[in-house]
Amino acid sequence: MLSGDNSGRDGAGEQGLMDASELRSGLEAVRAAASSGLAVAGDEAGVDALRTELLGRSGRLTGLMRQLGGIDPAERPALGVLANEVRNEVEAAIGQRLNALRSSGLSDRLEAERIDMTAPGRPVRVGHLHPTMTVERDLREIFHAFGFEIFEGPEIEDDWWNFEALNIPPDHPSRDLWDTLYVAEPGSWEAGSPRPAEDGSILRTHTSPVQIRVMQALQPPIRAIMPGRCFRYEAVDASHSFEFFQVEGLVVDRDTSLADLKGMLEEYARAIYGEGTATRFRPGYYPFTEPSVAFDVACLVCGGPGCPACGRTGWITILGAGMVHPVVLRSGGLDPDEYQGYAFGMGIDRMTMLRYGIPDLRLLMSGDLRFLEQFPEGR
Ligand code: DAH
Repeated sequence: MLSGDNSGRDGAGEQGLMDASELRSGLEAVRAAASSGLAVAGDEAGVDALRTELLGRSGRLTGLMRQLGGIDPAERPALGVLANEVRNEVEAAIGQRLNALRSSGLSDRLEAERIDMTAPGRPVRVGHLHPTMTVERDLREIFHAFGFEIFEGPEIEDDWWNFEALNIPPDHPSRDLWDTLYVAEPGSWEAGSPRPAEDGSILRTHTSPVQIRVMQALQPPIRAIMPGRCFRYEAVDASHSFEFFQVEGLVVDRDTSLADLKGMLEEYARAIYGEGTATRFRPGYYPFTEPSVAFDVACLVCGGPGCPACGRTGWITILGAGMVHPVVLRSGGLDPDEYQGYAFGMGIDRMTMLRYGIPDLRLLMSGDLRFLEQFPEGR
């Protein structure tokens, strides 16, 4: 049974020395272990472990092949052939199983990550401008085309900028505590006894203070518009709000006249309301202009005969204007003997209501998407 002559060399060790039939059944057992093991190996790691167990350096098949040397030389060739056959078969089966696992993993992934290129796109919700900002932007464009520069000023001003510089005397009604929103002195609100800030900070009641800033910053000739948010202590109703928008205009040069003001504003009315729009000037009063005018256009709703929108007068006042008062020029650092100018101011909220037929100012302030989404043209 044992030739023994190679027993020291082959180191078959633990398995002890085998005879031919033991070796044959050992090889068959490896073949069987491969096919049953592969049948249950569910992933690549499982197959790798099986490969190591059967074919690895100290695996079962390697151990058996080491026994070959000790086999009866008559049986040896046939067993050698069988051992090689088993090795090739097991290797092939393992390779096949790995391929199958890899490709099924891939197809699972492809399925999970499938993108249907033919599916219809989901609409992207693009926001749009608030209607008031659409109107403001139109005004910027019109005046820009007329050669006006655009400036913005701070929303918090103090008494000097908002009133004094604009020739508004202390007893003027617009300085009334009930018209102006005062910034509270720090701490006084929290202490339960709010009082106006000692530094005189208020929320600007109009965009007119920006005129002063522009005059101080620029040298004439000046042509500027100044859009912005304004605040007043108002009870909110269909046509009033504590917060609203204005556009201020200012033109200053050596010999600017009332005729320039009239020509400019008529041109503006045609640009925004159409060529045939009828206009008129009426005398008005503002502390910061002298003389002052109110500028009307034929009612945009009824076109003249009179309706509720125009108070049955057939006219709608779209802005106030006038020649810049010498006191105001001086506040801006300009010499009234050298320069004259005209100014105008208009409310954008009312323009927006007229343009879109919006009946209540509160809708503009609401932030209600059901309302806002009706004005998608502002981009
Ligand atoms: N500041 C005025 C207001 O709030 C609007 C205004 C009127 C501005 C006449 C002007 C102007 O520049 O000349 O009602």
